[in-house]
Amino acid sequence: MARAVKKIILPVAGLGTRFLPATKAIPKEMLPVLDKPLIQYAVEEAVAAGIEDIILVTGRNKQVMEDHFDHAYELEKILQEKGKDEALDISRSMLLEEGRISYVRQMRPLGLGHAIWCARKLVGDAPFAVALPDDLIIGKPGTLKQMVDAYDDLGGNIIATMDVAREDTSKYGVITPGARSGNRVAVEGLVEKPHPNDAPSTQAVVGRYILQPEVMEHLNKKAIGAGGEIQLTDAMAELIGNQPFHALEFEGQRFDCGSKFGWLTANLTMATQDPVMADQVRKFINSQ
Ligand code: G1P
Repeated sequence: MARAVKKIILPVAGLGTRFLPATKAIPKEMLPVLDKPLIQYAVEEAVAAGIEDIILVTGRNKQVMEDHFDHAYELEKILQEKGKDEALDISRSMLLEEGRISYVRQMRPLGLGHAIWCARKLVGDAPFAVALPDDLIIGKPGTLKQMVDAYDDLGGNIIATMDVAREDTSKYGVITPGARSGNRVAVEGLVEKPHPNDAPSTQAVVGRYILQPEVMEHLNKKAIGAGGEIQLTDAMAELIGNQPFHALEFEGQRFDCGSKFGWLTANLTMATQDPVMADQVRKFINSQ
């Protein structure tokens, strides 16, 4: 049986330039979709998948995320005094037991592969998950849970993929698909951000991964890939052929919340599914 996935790396060191000026002083991972910051969606998805240890790879100006996952004593005291129990519950319910979240700093913006490598000492020789909080996926069960279930059957490495328009392949990692069984597809090759003419398929990697620790050995080489960055995709590609490697065509709706359009549509979708707001929001949209 495959060794259980108990750790996750959440890379959160990115600059969030596509959201300036909003992200000048706050991390893009703290942007809310409705009332919850992106980072909290990712942590909740991980916890729901049975993952115990959460590792945030942070950078400069990201300290507010540590505060977010800590007690806010002043706020809690005031809410308690005012008898605002519901608000108090919301503020506290997201707290994880001490020691379950750790933070490691990526000191230079050298790419996603480098960010993952920065967490190597915390991961050790255990399999681990990765989630990119910008990629918000609404689905039940959550995508990480779907992936852990697939991993329990298949072992090795699992990446979440979805079909994209051919003209968009240059925004994603893209797989060369092999044998298919339902929504599980063997991965025979992986390339980062291929030009549409060169893309081996239109099955794109979205920001959810379950990886074996050997990927760190490849990241250790610090090979420079697409965009002049150290790419996770390139290190993963080296595992193919040596370890089982599958794509899971997950069930759920994915939003690129690193872009304004993606973030806005995530908000609208959530709002139209929210029991309190749905009618009001639909009425507003229809009136435009
Ligand atoms: C990263 C990965 C890419 C993946 C994408 C999903 O790219 O490098 O393989 O398809 O996330 O969102 P980025 O969006 O950071 O450029």
